[in-house]
Amino acid sequence: MNPRERIEYLVNILNKARDEYYINNNPTLSDNEYDSLIRELEELEAKYPDLVLPHSPTREVGATTNLSTLEKVEYVVPMLSLADVFNYDEVREFFGRVEKDGYHPTYVCELKIDGISSSAKYKNGKFVLGSTRGNGFVGENITENMKTVASLPKELSRPLDIEVRGEIYMSDEVFNELNNVRIQNGEEPFKNPRNATGGSLKQLDSNITRSRKLDTFDYTLVDPEKYGVATQEQALKFMASLGFRVNPNYKLCSSIEEVIDYLKLWEQKRKTLGYATDGVVIKVNEFSLCNEIGRTVKSPKWAVAYKFPAMEVETKLLDIIYTVGRTGNITPNAVLEPIMIAGSLVSRATLNNEDYCIDKDIRIGDIVKVRKAGEIIPEIVEVVMDRRSPDSIPFKMIDVCPVCGSVLVRKPGEASHFCVNEKCDGRKLANIIYFASKPCMNIETLGEKLCEDLYNRGFLRSVVDIYDLYLHRDALINIDGLGEKSVDTLLANIEASKQNGFEKVLAALGIRFVGSKVAKILAKNYASLKDLENTSLEKLLDIKDIGDAIAGSVISYFKDNMDIVNGLIERGINPVNELVSNDNALFANQTIVLTGRLDSFTREEATKIIEDLGGNVASSVSKKTSFVVCGLDAGSKKTKAEALGVKIISEEEFKDLIK
Ligand code: IVH
Repeated sequence: MNPRERIEYLVNILNKARDEYYINNNPTLSDNEYDSLIRELEELEAKYPDLVLPHSPTREVGATTNLSTLEKVEYVVPMLSLADVFNYDEVREFFGRVEKDGYHPTYVCELKIDGISSSAKYKNGKFVLGSTRGNGFVGENITENMKTVASLPKELSRPLDIEVRGEIYMSDEVFNELNNVRIQNGEEPFKNPRNATGGSLKQLDSNITRSRKLDTFDYTLVDPEKYGVATQEQALKFMASLGFRVNPNYKLCSSIEEVIDYLKLWEQKRKTLGYATDGVVIKVNEFSLCNEIGRTVKSPKWAVAYKFPAMEVETKLLDIIYTVGRTGNITPNAVLEPIMIAGSLVSRATLNNEDYCIDKDIRIGDIVKVRKAGEIIPEIVEVVMDRRSPDSIPFKMIDVCPVCGSVLVRKPGEASHFCVNEKCDGRKLANIIYFASKPCMNIETLGEKLCEDLYNRGFLRSVVDIYDLYLHRDALINIDGLGEKSVDTLLANIEASKQNGFEKVLAALGIRFVGSKVAKILAKNYASLKDLENTSLEKLLDIKDIGDAIAGSVISYFKDNMDIVNGLIERGINPVNELVSNDNALFANQTIVLTGRLDSFTREEATKIIEDLGGNVASSVSKKTSFVVCGLDAGSKKTKAEALGVKIISEEEFKDLIK
């Protein structure tokens, strides 16, 4: 993936995860995954400022609230979030930024409670309005449900008009009890206490919320000057005096060493708290200074959230099972005794390949240390050797495919074993899952589990069968867990996928070496599946960026898979492109770089114009760049173009060109 594609990918999955988290209380990424991906995005955006997307999650405070049905509450003082830091060096950098102008403030360290942030408003000392953070500017009214939180005062010790903010959370004990009951009742357990808290707060029936025994800690006093409160320490004491529940573990520190000692202390002690904390919030204590230091769009510059390192947890490796990918690659996976790590239940970890298992000497029955850090999938850090059973058996990679029984092949220089049987059911299923997945045909609701189920029941044997599922509507409705509504939604989603353009369909076929980027190139040069089927190796090789491997793979795909291609075409999956005759096009064979702010087009519009006129848009300047279009405030790309002697044109000149 090039940086542009990676940024688009990250923005999409992060926005989706954020909405799932804030709006549906259904985390699709763990905190660590989210943190690590957002970091990667921030780094890419810093490196390629021209590629920053307007809807990037780094530009916004939180989730959009438009999916929620709850009444909206607008914040006069926005509910900001905090910038995260992950190690002591980054904490020191924060101190450096705060103190660079000669300030030497005191700092308050507070535990970062892992719950749902909320605002509580009081009139004449009486609780009148409770709301969630939402996107930081607009939250959701959850007053009735907040009334059920016993530790939130409903009447204060003084008749003040006041707003405080804090975290509503569920203790570990209540969480475990709740999940035990849910499991007994055959209900899906909550993934973590925060998720359970969010779900409980958005209940329409407050009695359900009450039964969830939520708790709260408050930490922010809005408009403190109204009450003559000048520091965060005073604010915490003032809130406690009014009856708010303030976490007692905060500490006033006057040096970075004191702060770091606090971080070290709570990294250990947090396990004994009985509620989840995922870090420490370090805040400048003096409010007058906070006002001077200011904020970014998203977060204050006078505070940071230090995130505790990923927890490593020991558990038993119960079994090793193998999965088959669509190219036939075989992956060993650890089946673990289920265990909570950093707030989510983990029962699988990837073991990657044979070498990985041998290097770590991983054996079934071992006690292993599992970590869920930045990786999407949890990983095994090491085996706890002194707890190994004397009769454990060394790992041995399987030598036949777990699905079709064919002998596996590991080519010299490759890490993976492959099932080379084209007809292997495992490969076919992986292929169907890939075809339906989001980056390909994006058939919503036809996810991995359903594909597998329909495959095993014989409804899906190839991607073509997806488009015949409507013939089996009655049978599908009778499958446990499906029903009329979900089958009709599925069939509608399948029908909608017929509208995908040629490049999507091409990528979805899973032709070796033809991912979305190559599919895009092919779709620029061929009008349809039939057109591509009738091409030759030579013609393919004539296309810029198509080499022997891709060309060979395309030719052999169409030779071997005409049943699939024709099957799709017969069922209406036959997108036809209008081809731009590239040779005579204005920007034929030119590589153009856009930089700076363009007034007359968005970046996407300018890119489309160039591509429609036969050119390619690149994200960085090199000797091969044909010319650079410079908008306002152009930075390093302009400098580089000047240094390399690459032609630079203004936006006006560009507009003249395309006239
Ligand atoms: S201060 C201006 N203090 O962490 C920022 N936040 O990413 C005000 N949180 O949205 C937040 N414990 O939900 C603060 N002691 C604490 C906190 C805390 C948990 C949450 C809060 C915030 C998020 C920051």
